Amino acid sequence: MNNPYSIFYTLGMSLLISACAVRPAQPTEADVLRATEMYPDITLDQLNQGLDYYKQYCTPCHKLKDPNSETVADWQKIVPAMAKKAGRAEDIADIPEDVQLSITRYLTTMTTRTVSAQ
Ligand code: HEC
Repeated sequence: MNNPYSIFYTLGMSLLISACAVRPAQPTEADVLRATEMYPDITLDQLNQGLDYYKQYCTPCHKLKDPNSETVADWQKIVPAMAKKAGRAEDIADIPEDVQLSITRYLTTMTTRTVSAQ
């Protein structure tokens, strides 16, 4: 590495790449513990199911958003709103209510954002 600026280039490129491709976090037992404050009976399997549904149903129109990009209250509104969009779009799978619930539980558990971006 002869060029003293190449480190900045490398850093910049990796920032750029990570900004474009969000890989949403895999839930852990610690997340389950936090989730039980909102959903007393929730299990790790259910959170993982929510992540799977999130990847499956929320990618036809745009890339996955970081769970931290929205607050709990915002996710609770956004998921049904997106399901309506999916319902109106002809070539895109409908998002059943139980799937919406599962995705909402995953996203509202994983976000740590407390201030709305909107
Ligand atoms: C039918 C296409 C479609 C599907 C399926 C879809 N979205 Fe979206 N989404 C959009 C469009 C279009 C926007 C751009 C902003 C808008 O129109 O609200 C958007 C924007 C967003 C935003 C940015 C904030 C906002 O309210 O604009 C979030 C977050 C989001 N989507 C999450 C999701 C999640 C979670 C799912 C799965 C439950 C999902 N999307 C599925 C079309 C879709």
